[in-house]
This record gives sequence, structure tokens and C-alpha cells, in this order.
Amino acid sequence: MKNEDMLINKAALKPLNTFAIDVRAQCVAAVRTEKELVTLWRRATENNMPALVLGSGSNVLFLEDYDGTVLLNRIAGIMIRENADAWYLHVGAGEVWHDLVTTCLDYQITGLENLAMIPGCVGSAPIQNIGAYGVELAQLCEYVDIIQLKTGVKRRLSSNECEFNYRDSIFKHDLREHNVIVAVGLRLAKAWRPVLDYGDLTLLNIGNVTPRQIYTAICAMRCSKLPDPALAGNAGSFFKNPIIDAQGAEKLLQRYPDAPYYFQPNSRVKLAAGWLIERCKLKGYRLGGTAVHDKQALVLVNAYNATGWDIVALARHVRQQVAQRFDLWLEPEVRFIGAKGEVDALRVIA
Ligand code: FAD
Ligand code: EPU
Repeated sequence: MKNEDMLINKAALKPLNTFAIDVRAQCVAAVRTEKELVTLWRRATENNMPALVLGSGSNVLFLEDYDGTVLLNRIAGIMIRENADAWYLHVGAGEVWHDLVTTCLDYQITGLENLAMIPGCVGSAPIQNIGAYGVELAQLCEYVDIIQLKTGVKRRLSSNECEFNYRDSIFKHDLREHNVIVAVGLRLAKAWRPVLDYGDLTLLNIGNVTPRQIYTAICAMRCSKLPDPALAGNAGSFFKNPIIDAQGAEKLLQRYPDAPYYFQPNSRVKLAAGWLIERCKLKGYRLGGTAVHDKQALVLVNAYNATGWDIVALARHVRQQVAQRFDLWLEPEVRFIGAKGEVDALRVIA
């Protein structure tokens, strides 16, 4: 197939973002090889036009039509090697994360089960260091391969160089622009240790639990709490859980002893933004075509034909209510995309 055949002009982005925001791009193209990625990006950005790389669009909020080319990363392939201690996976950025988790389980390769059902592509996983149910990508990631689009130069970053943190990595900072993740290397230890510290997982028996049981339990928990984007547009948690110092946490916990909290390194404490929002009586709150999800207040949904700006209005309201009550300003986890590219979500929402 020639590159031209893959270009779709004036393409609808609604099926390409899980918020189901009805906007368009000048052009959309799927890229299946590194060479295609570089060639199409160069062509798309001639005459200073913007280009945006997307995986599954499950962590973005489009504010308006995109005045450039959207490149869908569809670089496929899974290579597996093993030694006595571990499996080593080299995975193309365009592979679907949940399918990778399921495939591994089918081949009795363990370690990814807690990260089941996280939407999105493998190449997006390192960007916000995806995490759920007590496991983060950082713990399993060996390296990330990127291509510097302007030069076409490929580079391998070790896990350390990725500067992983809670919902954060170097790919949100120094390497945010003009660097595309093309593959991810994972190391999955053969000495399997079930991670059962989180939520209903504590009900499982650590003595005889199987990876498949954890996978099934997680899929069930996620389905019971999180809205299916196919039914109600959303991008998962809209805000990050706030991390505050021990003093602030102590003050809050004196006033609200039932507030969930999680100890972090450096005497810091992570709070549950969903709990804070629910405490503001906003669970199920509706504003125009948008709503705070009625089972998970950290998720904002496109209930009916909402625009990106409608979601921003709801998010702003939620943020202000939480600040008024708890003196804490929530930060968006979702990336905001304007007509020319990513915009500063904190500024937009302020
Ligand atoms: P996209 O939304 O396509 O892209 C996200 C950002 O990364 C954009 O800025 C894009 O330009 C950039 N980007 C995409 N691909 C590349 C690339 N190859 N190279 C460079 N930049 C790129 N997240 C969690 O961590 N844990 C969860 O439990 C979780 N649950 C979710 C549940 C639901 C129902 C939904 C809708 C989302 C959830 N998320 C969760 C958020 C989301 O799944 C992750 O952020 C995921 O990694 C996004 O992948 P994506 O391919 O959809 O990224
Ligand atoms: N809670 C409430 N009310 C709510 C929502 C949550 O009281 O409406 C309470 C829960 O009862 C629990 C605590 O808050 O005590 C934490 O809730 P939950 O286990 O649902 O997780 P979360 O902190 O809201 C985070 C991630 C999710 C991830 C889950 C499971 C962030 C921003 N979100 O949510 O990731 O799936 O933990 O590990 O860290 C995402 O990033 O998009 C995402 C969905």
C-alpha cells in the first residue's frame, strides 16, 4: 500500500477519541512502519502545518477541529525472548495494550495481569506510566525506543532515563515534542509474585491465586466502576490523584478520618480525587451534555453530544468545588488538544 492510500482528508475524529468529541482533522493517516512515520510526518509538517501522533485517543480531549494531520501509530509486532529468569518482550507501539495483556496470559507469561483493560496502545503506556491495581508500567519496562522526527534518528532510553513517576515520565516533559515512541521493551520475571494489595484483590487467596483469576477479578472491577467508552464517551480518570505533604494530609485526615490515602516516597501522601469529588456531592452531577460518572466521580463523561469545551466547563466546576472545600487544586490527567496541537490543560481549566 502506498502512503497516499492511507491518507483520509477532512476526517472525522469522533471514532478516534474515546471521549467521542465530534471534531475533524485536516487529514488522518495510519502509519505502520517507522519509515512511514518519518516520511508522513515530514510531509504533513511541510509549510509549518501541525501533526499529532495518536494511539487509541483514550487520554485526549479535543477542544476544536484539528488544523493539521493526525498520524495513528499502528506499528505492530511482538517479539519474545526468554532466559531462566524472565521473558523479554519487544512490542511495537501500535499494539493494543489490553490485547498484549491477554495474549501474554494465554501464553502463560505472567506479570501484566493487574494492568488488564487499560485502553490504549503500547506506545502510549510509558507516556503517563500507566498504572492500576498496585502495578505501574515503570516496574516492568526495560526500555523505550523513540524516533526523533526531525532527524529520523532512533534512540533507546533505559527505564531510568524515562524518569517514570506517578502518571508522569520524560515523554511529558523534555521529550514531549517531535519524539515518537515506536517500541517498548518489557521484562516480566518468571518468579511470579501476585500483587493483591488493592481494593477487592485483597479478597483473593495469596496462597493459591492464579494470574487468570487476578485478570478476571480486575476486568470485573473495572467493568463495574468505569464507564465503557463505547456507551458513554470518557477518558478514564480526568484528574490525577493529588499528592500532598504529610502535614497537609494529617490536617485533612483529622477533619475527614474516612478519606482514603496512600503513603508515597519522601513522606508524601496520595489522596483519592474521586473521594474528594464525591464529598462535594458531585457524583452523578450533570451539566449540559456532560456528567460526573455516577459510579466513579473521577471520570467525566460525554453523556450527550458534548463538545470539548462542555467537558472543560464541567471540569472547571468540579475543580473549583474541590478547591473550595478542601483547599486543593486538582490537575488534569487528560491531555487537551487545540487546533494547532496540545495546549496547557491547567491554563485552559483555570
Ligand atoms: P492517546 O490518547 O492516543 O495519546 C495520549 C497522548 O500521548 C497524546 O498526547 C498523544 O499525542 C501522545 N502519544 C500517543 N502515542 C504516542 C507515541 N507513540 N509517541 C509519542 N506520543 C504519543 N490510564 C491508566 O494509567 N490507568 C488506568 O487504569 C486507566 N484506565 C482507563 C479507563 C478508561 C475507560 C479510559 C478511557 C482510559 C483509561 N486510562 C487509564 C487512560 C488511558 O488508557 C492511558 O493514558 C493510555 O495509555 C492512553 O493510550 P492511547 O493510545 O489511547 O493514547
Ligand atoms: N472513591 C470514592 N468515590 C468515587 C471514586 C473513588 O469514594 O467516586 C474512593 C474509592 O472508594 C477508593 C478510592 O477513592 O477508596 C480510590 O478509588 P479507585 O480504587 O476507584 O481508584 P482511583 O484512585 O479513583 C486510580 C487511577 C485509575 C486506576 C485505579 C485503580 C488515577 C488518576 N486513577 O483511580 O486509573 O484504574 O486507581 O488502580 O490514578 C486512569 O488513569 O484513567 C485510571 C482509570
